[in-house]
Amino acid sequence: MPDHGDLSRVDTSFPHPARVYDAWLGGKDNFAADRAAAEAGVAAFPGIIESARANRAFLRRAVRYLAAEAGMRGFVDIGTGLPSAPNTHEVAQSVAPHSSIVYVDNDPIVLAHARALLTSGGPGKTGYIDADLRDPGKILREAAELLNLSEPVAVMLIGIMHLISDEDQPYEIVGTLLDAVPPGSYLAMSHLASDLYPEEMAEFARVWNKQARKTEQGTLRGHAEVARFFDGLDVVPPGVVQISKWHPRTGPEADAIAALRGAVARKP
Ligand SMILES: C[S@@+](CC[C@H](N)C(=O)[O-])C[C@H]1O[C@@H](n2cnc3c(N)ncnc32)[C@H](O)[C@@H]1O
Repeated sequence: MPDHGDLSRVDTSFPHPARVYDAWLGGKDNFAADRAAAEAGVAAFPGIIESARANRAFLRRAVRYLAAEAGMRGFVDIGTGLPSAPNTHEVAQSVAPHSSIVYVDNDPIVLAHARALLTSGGPGKTGYIDADLRDPGKILREAAELLNLSEPVAVMLIGIMHLISDEDQPYEIVGTLLDAVPPGSYLAMSHLASDLYPEEMAEFARVWNKQARKTEQGTLRGHAEVARFFDGLDVVPPGVVQISKWHPRTGPEADAIAALRGAVARKP
């Protein structure tokens, strides 16, 4: 069994993406180094707080679409983050109560919270995998114990691919995940952009990379580089767009500042 409780792996002297994101979202699960990095990020790009909120709104809309329109009943949510309700399983199970969600993260604090809070009350299931996205084989092996991977599933990579640098072969990782799931499966992704608010975002990335550990360095990508993750898939309209423009439900949602692009796509 994976060791979800290994908090000795946590080094609170460095900022961590899950906890810095939690700070931007107004959460309490963060330490001094995370709060300092969160503030430095806001100084570089004040729109990051609205972007974080817009990303959570995109996650909720994408999951609702996947459950309600695309009929997905299995979800592999890689890069879970600290709980911020409504979470993936709550949205999916509000549409289809029998939905099963597997949360995957490599941060022991995220996993400890997930095990405590991201639990299903009804007939659906939730599971947790302690794995690094750079090892997609491990994710697939453990997900297969929790989900029926011969049925289409939704692979969710929301707000995580910009934490995978080019040398870690991000396109091969996504390819490995999608090769392992059947036609009719979906990919949902959001990604920090290099070509939205480009000057502020370049400064934002510089400031983050100065503070973060090597394993958590950030890589901004432009429209074409984000679109490349969806090569060979049928991208749901309106395509790869600024996340606030993906199926917004209200005017303010559509107008939100968001430094991320995202899309939802079906494996043919
Ligand atoms: C910015 S948060 C996004 C959370 C959530 N998906 C959302 O969009 O609201 C990124 C999450 O990815 C996790 N993460 C970062 N790098 C990872 C890796 N290489 N493998 C697994 N999880 C990772 C972090 O621990 C964090 O929980």
